[in-house]
Amino acid sequence: MIQKDMIPVHVAVIMDGNGRWAKDRGLPRVAGHNSGMKAMKQIVKRASELGIGFLTVYAFSTENWKRSEDEIDGIFKLLTSYVAVELRELDRNNVKVGVIGDISPIPERARESIEKAVRTTAENDGLRFNVALNYGGRDEICRALREISATGIEPERIDEELISRHLYTGKAGVPDPELLIRTSGEKRLSNFLLWQLAYTEMVFSPVLWPDFTPEEFDRCIEEYQSRDRRFGGRK
Ligand code: IPE
Ligand code: IPE
Ligand code: MG
Repeated sequence: MIQKDMIPVHVAVIMDGNGRWAKDRGLPRVAGHNSGMKAMKQIVKRASELGIGFLTVYAFSTENWKRSEDEIDGIFKLLTSYVAVELRELDRNNVKVGVIGDISPIPERARESIEKAVRTTAENDGLRFNVALNYGGRDEICRALREISATGIEPERIDEELISRHLYTGKAGVPDPELLIRTSGEKRLSNFLLWQLAYTEMVFSPVLWPDFTPEEFDRCIEEYQSRDRRFGGRK
């Protein structure tokens, strides 16, 4: 059972395994992304019900541009239709949508729909649902350093707090995650939230993302809650 008084404030998720899910069924990769969107919808709902403050999902990495044009196109089309279909429901559930990553190079339709979602839900104060799009942890740190350097600050005054404030998360008031979940059995960070995950507990689920259910999400949170975190650097 989930302990309601130990719900993590911020859960980050690397939604992985869509391609393998499709391959197992002899379907095109895009079919896996389509089912993955449905899983995402369920998890947003569950996170909201549990009273999680922030849910950050890795939807498209800076490295994912290396995939085929068809797949990239499919992912962004699915994202556009997800927003078209779900925005009203997200808004009704008081979800506030945010983006981390540089969305300027993503296809226009997808960019406009995500911008609309952010605008429409800007005043909501329920779950903060952050979508990482064209996001890379190293890229994020480079951008922060460029911004800081452009202010002409003396190098001695650069500290961790200042760097944190110049990251996408810091700018949006998003705290470091207590829990990271990666699905599909892979055990890598793949350039996700490198700075922010310094003290985050990690739970790896073997389930491929399209098969990831609210029950499996609960199980991951229970695993997190069962850990003895006394030895973490942050008390
Ligand atoms: C994750 O699933 C979704 C994205 C990266 C957009 P994958 O597409 O990486 O699925 P696998 O890892 O090939 O199974
Ligand atoms: C990480 O998964 C990115 C997203 C889930 C969006 P990938 O499948 O792209 O990562 P690698 O290539 O396995 O490291
Ligand atoms: Mg993958």
